[in-house]
Amino acid sequence: MEKQKQQDLMEKIVSLCKRRGFVFPGSEIYGGFAGTYDYGHYGVLLRKNVIETWQQVMRDHDNIAFIESSIFTAPRVWEASGHTTGFSDPLVSCKKCRTNHRADHLLEAVGVKADEKMSEAQINKLFDENRDKLKCSVCEKKDFGSVRAKKLLATSTLGMFAEDDQEVYLRAETAQGIYINYKNILDAGPFSIPFGIAQVGKVFRNEISPRQFLFRKREFEQMEMQYFVHPRDAKDFYEKWKEERMTYYSKLGIKKEKLRWKRHDNLVFYAKDAWDIQYEFPFGWDELEGVHYRGDYDLNQHQKYSGVDMSAYDEETKTHFIPHVVETSVGVDRTILMLLANAYDEDEMGGEKRVVLRFAPNVAPIKAAVFPLLRNKPQLVEKAREIFRALKKMFGNIIFDDNGNIGKRYRRQDEIGTPFCITIDFDSLEKGDVTVRDRDSGKQERVKIEDLVKKINF
Ligand code: GAP
Repeated sequence: MEKQKQQDLMEKIVSLCKRRGFVFPGSEIYGGFAGTYDYGHYGVLLRKNVIETWQQVMRDHDNIAFIESSIFTAPRVWEASGHTTGFSDPLVSCKKCRTNHRADHLLEAVGVKADEKMSEAQINKLFDENRDKLKCSVCEKKDFGSVRAKKLLATSTLGMFAEDDQEVYLRAETAQGIYINYKNILDAGPFSIPFGIAQVGKVFRNEISPRQFLFRKREFEQMEMQYFVHPRDAKDFYEKWKEERMTYYSKLGIKKEKLRWKRHDNLVFYAKDAWDIQYEFPFGWDELEGVHYRGDYDLNQHQKYSGVDMSAYDEETKTHFIPHVVETSVGVDRTILMLLANAYDEDEMGGEKRVVLRFAPNVAPIKAAVFPLLRNKPQLVEKAREIFRALKKMFGNIIFDDNGNIGKRYRRQDEIGTPFCITIDFDSLEKGDVTVRDRDSGKQERVKIEDLVKKINF
């Protein structure tokens, strides 16, 4: 897609999200608050479907435990994990207007290959070699300071350690909550190696330049699973999980050609191998999910810092070992941006232009909308409400709409991505059937009321 079209698509998605109540800018009435967004009604329903779909595929395995660990943890957790020293992004400031930028993003914008995992010395060298090409995107001056590593751990304060409040870290990934509880889960049973621990939860990062709407936020939600295996089996499990995670995206209705694998050129301190699933977002290919082989780094570190034995026992060889970890990690918010970009379409129907979100029925925030043909005919409204209540009881995410003419109601549901609209008219009262209109084709068919559940149950 050409650059202008991509930018337009992003703007259209952001505007649709606000207009229809999916996502609003954070603290908007106070002028906004960078890197934060608030989810509205349809956004919340979409999130719920994304999370439930992910949890379901994890539940399909017999040996994956679920956990909800705290956001606040002992500060030592983040010292042990290496985040207090090694978790940073390359920051460079414009000397003229003082805007902070990610050095790797500035370099990439002029076609120089860089990444945030380079060392401070490496990225400074690259930055210096390309200074003449790099200008500030705000004031357009070419006057930058040197690149320095900006810590990404977000902090808060708690008063539980001393009279004065003390600084604590907000979790930067849910994975650490899993590692520090891995022994608890193993000891509590019935899980044994190989097994996984899955967690969905909020994380916080002091991102230098939050951008691209839901793609890079300062507060976001992760869906992570850490699979603990014997070192001899690690490579096999790594390949299995890579395959499974790519297959998962077809369940969300994502077009195959929009996804690809990308191996990390520079491995982060904890990884033995690392591949990302990338999606072609409106602004280009970028990371959607990381599938990483983390080796025994994390458990060894927590064993060293906590003094607690993290080993498991191998019945086969009668020896103790520190399990290796295969991690799958994806953001809820990034998944939602992908779903919106994947679903957004414009076409013409009945001679009118329309915007439609072609969500797969299992992720669409609303499964079906129920309309009485006319709102001032009590018999129609009563019948429509009866059908609405029955379907809502069954599926939950059903909506009743009697506002405006039918054409307008269709357009509204198309923009929300509702796969089916059900209209109750005078024939319905006599013959017991209703009109079901398909979002994508606009085709309408008469369906018996008793067959409605079957018709919309995807
Ligand atoms: N435990 C590994 C880990 O946290 P990561 O690549 O930093 O790895 C994993 O993050 C996933 O979390 C990413 O693939 C992305 O989907 C999501 N993610 C990371 N940073 C994000 C941000 N600032 N805003 C939204 N989602 C983000």
